[in-house]
This record gives sequence, structure tokens and C-alpha cells, in this order.
Amino acid sequence: MKTDELINTATALMAGDKGLLAMDESTSTANKRFEEAGIPQTIEYRRAYREMILTTPNLGRCLSGAILYDETIHQSTKKGELFIDILKKSGIIPGIKVDEGTVDMANFPGKKITEGLDGLRQRLEKYYDLGARFAKWRAVITIGDGIPTKGNIEANMHLLARYAALCQENAIVPIVEPEVIMEGDHSLKKCAKVTAKALKELFKQLEKQKVDLRGLILKPNMVLPGTKREKQADLDKVAKATVECLLHNVPPSVAGIAFLSGGQSPQLATAHLNAMHVKYKGKLPWPLTFSFARAIQKPALDAWKGQDKNVKAAQKLLYTRASLDNAARRGEYTPEMEF
Ligand code: G3H
Repeated sequence: MKTDELINTATALMAGDKGLLAMDESTSTANKRFEEAGIPQTIEYRRAYREMILTTPNLGRCLSGAILYDETIHQSTKKGELFIDILKKSGIIPGIKVDEGTVDMANFPGKKITEGLDGLRQRLEKYYDLGARFAKWRAVITIGDGIPTKGNIEANMHLLARYAALCQENAIVPIVEPEVIMEGDHSLKKCAKVTAKALKELFKQLEKQKVDLRGLILKPNMVLPGTKREKQADLDKVAKATVECLLHNVPPSVAGIAFLSGGQSPQLATAHLNAMHVKYKGKLPWPLTFSFARAIQKPALDAWKGQDKNVKAAQKLLYTRASLDNAARRGEYTPEMEF
């Protein structure tokens, strides 16, 4: 294992007040977002959208890494410059989503299992040669009547650990993402309980697969009440529940933690990250940052509308959103900073 390289990459990804941009939507997810925004769902529009994001001036000041999708890692700007070269020039480390999405799990009605281990070793070798230095695999855990179950959590966490081991074998830092889904009417307490269960099992499986935690990044959900819950929690309560859950279940040797946004509004995701830093400054064993997709991209996507004339305005919104997340990482964000 190339331990030094893994640790160096993980450290660079967690550096300063920077964070990660997840722009690794699968074709079907990207098309769904385009449909919602009234944008045609074609490969050329997806390419143009990714070009708009990656050519945003000074994006490297805000981001340490960007997670791409297989389609995107091979694409270029209209002028022919490879996206991956643009990232390298901006000082942003290229990453790649390597899971192949979720399917129904046999014998576990209503539960999902993530696919993608077949041929992964060879795919990782190719991605490394293309320039990717970290990867992402997402497991989905839904809270509902009688779910999730032990068997479903164990199977998903085992796959995350096997993926992480393969990444490290190829000098690629694994981002492990056990996402407890926000949709539902569950309480914040229930979310905390399920998140803790998943994290406990995840680190048990990672140890069994001999994964070096110093070269690994955790991408968890924040601990929140379900979206259908009438009473939502205030910022401090979410910050406390999330950080306490992580402190109890994530070993201090993990290189860093980078949150998903999970469908929170951009403002709320930023405010939650900020509240964690304000409350726990200097008391955390790992760096805590963002790896948002929707919470960074949404305002820019809505402004872009698939039209060249809107590129500059969309880029401005993207940059502003990412820099507000930098402020949150410093514990300096205030709602008045919103545009
Ligand atoms: O897998 C999910 C993405 O990496 C994060 O997306 O911030 O929109 O939840 P999100």
C-alpha cells in the first residue's frame, strides 16, 4: 500500500477552510435535476453544464477536490481542454464516483444495496492513470417502519469496506458515504440512532478489511429530523446531535469528515456546518468540511437554465455558495452574508 501518498492526498483534501464539490451525478440523476430546471436532458447539455462549473474563475480558492462521474472524467470544454486538466490547473484534486448505484436487496423488501465491486480493481487502475486521486461510494439507508435492519446495514457496510480496501491498493483515497436518507417522518433521535448503528458497523467492517483510516475520508449525513416531521430542530441541536454522534462512533485516526447535504437548502446546510464549528472549535479530532452537491450547485443550475448567456451569472452564484461554505468551515458564516 502506498501509505504516504494516501495520507498526503487525504490531508490535501481536508486542508484549510476548503471542501469538496460533488458533481458526480449519474446520468439519470443529472437528467432528473435538468428536467426539474427545464433544461434539455442530453449529453451535450450535461457537458456544457459541467464546463460552466469547472471554468468558474478562482474555484480553486474554495475547493480542494471535485468528484466527477465516469461520463465527465472523459469530457472536455468546447475548445477541447480536458475537464481533468482544468481541475489540475486550478489546484483541485480530481475524484471519481465508482459505485454503480443502488438496487433492491434480495430478501430485504424496501431496502437498497449498492452495486459496483465487479471489475472495480481494473476501473480504479484506469481512473488513477487518468488522474483521479480519490473516489466515492454511496450506501443508502432508509428509515421507515421496521427498517433499516441489521442484515441490510451489515451488507452495505461490508461493501463500503471492500471498496475502500481496493481504492487504497490503487493509491486512491476512498470516501465512504453511508447516507441515512432525510425523507421520512422520523425524529432527530431516531436519525441519531440509525446513523450511530451504521457508523459502528462501518468501522468494524473497515477494520476487518485492514483499511488504513489515515488515508480515508468519511462522508456522512448530518443528524436531522425527517423531512416530513412537523417540528424541525434548531441549528445548535443539529450541530450537537451530529458532532456527538460522530465523536462516539468515528475513530480519531480518520483523515477527515466531509458532509453530504442530502437535500437541505444551501443556506441550511451551510448554517449547520457553521454551527458545528462555532460550538466545537478546537475540540474535534478530525477536520470537518463539506462535500455538497445540491447545496452548492442548485442556485447556479437554476440561473444557468442551459443558456450560454447565463454562464457568468451562474458561475458567480456557484463561487459565492462555495465561499460561504469556506466561511462556515471557519465558523464565520452569518445569514447576512447571503446574497
Ligand atoms: O452522493 C451524494 C452526493 O455526493 C452528495 O449530494 O449534497 O446533494 O446530498 P448532496
